[in-house]
Amino acid sequence: MSLLSWKPEYSVNQTLLDSQHQQLFSILNSLYENTMNSLEVDSVLPKIDLLSEWTSFHFSTEEQYMRDKNVADIDPHIEKHRKFTCRIDALREHYHNNDLEVTKELIIVLGEWLLGHVLKDDMKNMAYLDTNHGIHRTIN
Ligand SMILES: [Fe+2]
Ligand SMILES: [Fe+2]
Repeated sequence: MSLLSWKPEYSVNQTLLDSQHQQLFSILNSLYENTMNSLEVDSVLPKIDLLSEWTSFHFSTEEQYMRDKNVADIDPHIEKHRKFTCRIDALREHYHNNDLEVTKELIIVLGEWLLGHVLKDDMKNMAYLDTNHGIHRTIN
């Protein structure tokens, strides 16, 4: 059972960023399924690390893309990336030795944040590009 599935309406109309968002959703779902089926929390920790690594990698790509495109006022967006990264790190440490129920809750919180961020902050920046650079959206 998937926790969250990426949908075409989540597209930010940038192929690389969309594929990275899809990868994040995929890791999150895999982590969730693993947690739901696992008896040992230790088996899911490598996947939490993978999610953390991929999130950092994606944030770097997205921030560079926004700089390259001269998107205005990106600092608040970048700050949200930083705070989210710190949150993952802190929660992972805190929950390291706790039970699976808490880990499931952590995954849901992270999933909801990711989805919210893509739909709100990432899309807002892409809407800026549409408006200011005359980029026309296409249906994939
Ligand atoms: Fe993103
Ligand atoms: Fe973002």
